Amino acid sequence: MKKISIAIDGPASSGKSTVAKILAKDYGYIYIDTGSMYRALTYMALKEKIDVNNEEDLDDLLKRISIALKQGKSGQQIFVDKKEVTEEIRIPDVTNNVSNVSAHKKVRTTMVKLQKNYGKHGGVVMDGRDIGTVVLPNAQVKIFLVASVFERAQRRFKENQMKGILTDFNTLKDEIQRRDFLDSTRKISPLVQAEDAILLDTTGLNIAEVVDEIKKLVSEKSKIS
Ligand code: DC
Repeated sequence: MKKISIAIDGPASSGKSTVAKILAKDYGYIYIDTGSMYRALTYMALKEKIDVNNEEDLDDLLKRISIALKQGKSGQQIFVDKKEVTEEIRIPDVTNNVSNVSAHKKVRTTMVKLQKNYGKHGGVVMDGRDIGTVVLPNAQVKIFLVASVFERAQRRFKENQMKGILTDFNTLKDEIQRRDFLDSTRKISPLVQAEDAILLDTTGLNIAEVVDEIKKLVSEKSKIS
């Protein structure tokens, strides 16, 4: 089967990364979690006490560091200047600041260049907010995953519970809503469904059902192209 590009966009905790990882594994494609790249920059900015509202300083930082994604045995790993930060980029401080960092035009221009480069040979499943619209506008399959805020907060709550992290459900729900708002109202490439993307509401669906739905679309597209 011809190697294609699959773009998966959608709001926070809509299941993008879980589904994207499975698809990449099953097709033998590269998986790129673009959110982790914005998170790595946010982590470094917080570490170096750089103001998350200062576009120039953030862009200088991004140009100074090297962000690398690698496929490890237990999933995708992320490195900044060769130091692994896979776990660090998931801390609440990073989660609560990443939407500010990713709203800056200069930051996005530099990130998009890196991401386009990862996707240039096809055979890639990339997830994020602007993959179908900006990073891989020619992707053969574009999916826009959504789910109710309540269900997304529930999924995050269970994930945290399994990791032994105690969180308040309503706080999680508020944080998800806040990020939805910031990500979809920012001026530069906000979270929107690409015109040619397929909308998939995963509320009430399990992971296998979502993966199956997308695989049907992939096999249709692979027959055509
Ligand atoms: O997918 P995630 O929750 O790890 O993404 C973290 C943040 O990064 C998200 O709140 C918005 C931003 N992001 C973005 O602006 N563009 C992308 N392609 C991916 C993520």
